[in-house]
Amino acid sequence: MKTQVGIIGGGPSGLLLSQLLHVQGIDNVVLEKHTRDYVLSRIRAGVLEHGFADLMREARCGERMDAEGEIHDGFEIAHEGRRDRIDLKGLTGGNSVIVYGQTELTRDLYDAREKMGGLVVHEALDVQPHDIGTDSPYLTYEQEGEKKRLDCEYIIGADGFHGVSRKSIPKGKIREFERVYPFGWLGVLSETKPVSPELIYARHERGFALCSLRSQVLSRYYIQVPLSDTTDQWSDDAFWEELKLRLPEDVSAKLETGPSIEKSIAPLRSFVAEPMRYGNMFLAGDAAHIVPPTGARGLNSAASDIYYLYHAMRDRYKKGDDSGLEAYSAKALARVWKGQRFSWWMTMLLHKFPENAPFDQRLQETDLDYLLSSEAAMASLAENYVGLAF
Ligand code: APR
Ligand code: PHB
Repeated sequence: MKTQVGIIGGGPSGLLLSQLLHVQGIDNVVLEKHTRDYVLSRIRAGVLEHGFADLMREARCGERMDAEGEIHDGFEIAHEGRRDRIDLKGLTGGNSVIVYGQTELTRDLYDAREKMGGLVVHEALDVQPHDIGTDSPYLTYEQEGEKKRLDCEYIIGADGFHGVSRKSIPKGKIREFERVYPFGWLGVLSETKPVSPELIYARHERGFALCSLRSQVLSRYYIQVPLSDTTDQWSDDAFWEELKLRLPEDVSAKLETGPSIEKSIAPLRSFVAEPMRYGNMFLAGDAAHIVPPTGARGLNSAASDIYYLYHAMRDRYKKGDDSGLEAYSAKALARVWKGQRFSWWMTMLLHKFPENAPFDQRLQETDLDYLLSSEAAMASLAENYVGLAF
């Protein structure tokens, strides 16, 4: 089989790029190792920057997001029993975020691919990039026991952190930067009314907590837990009790609890691989970078990679102009690192670090105190949260 762009990975990054390229008449094929249902079974955050929302609309996939997604003009930070609101809209001259689950967004992308006759090969096993340093790279994979080959002009590694693309780059040609945090997030999804119409990020001496939502009947909550914890150690009742202890009393009092329909613990990590290109293979999304979920940047960092790749591929195929492809890695990394900084900063600001020296403890408290007392500091947080310009 032959195509112009071979995309490894049928998650948000791969599907969004595939759809955008298709709209521009650029031929592409997505190779995804799992079934569509498996991909759609993943529970992931969905706080979309306004730039991401625009990209979904440009990909002709924004209809349900605009109909069912919730516009959020702000969020709250809870601390010492009180709540301070970050007025995203007021602090950014009118920008907001859309809360719309990643699962739904991925579903919309799959539906659009199907409607437009896009080719997403599921259960494509053992995908391997070949000759990525040449002008005629190709991919091999196995499907239903049969070895197959996909010849392409460019390969996009959109196969996530554990994918094959980044690992296919020779060791000496890629540099990795990483920070692992000494705790995880225990997350619960419940078919309950969200405790607040906006997200609440809580800093508490017992540990961080987050009140989020997927809709007005589906709530998402998190608490910081030691990395050694397992979900078996956390009954629903134990989770709700601990969450209540970390929230201001007026919030805990109105918390609607219920059975968890999903419960998981995720470690927190900051990770960047440089450069995001090797030969004619380009890395995008989690394949190249991971952020702690505190700043809700994961999906949005993936979207900015796709924005740059989409424009670069469009210039390449429509104008014969390679400059966007040549500049991709540097341009994408400049914004990726700003997302890394913001995610690291929010994580350091709001979580409990038991090993912190007393001086560092005071610095952390002062960081929050300064943030909530300075319009300029809140404006800086807000412009990062709604999304810096691409
Ligand atoms: N061959 C084919 N497909 C693969 C391979 C492989 N070797 N390895 C992984 N995949 C697929 C996975 O099954 C997954 O569907 O690639 C896809 C990668 O999707 P994600 O991990 O979701 O990464 P990305 O599309 O970049 O989206 C980033 O997802 O993990 C969240 O927080 C992250 O919100 C961010 C978003
Ligand atoms: C979520 O709803 O899962 C979520 C929201 C905001 C975050 C992280 C996760 O910062």
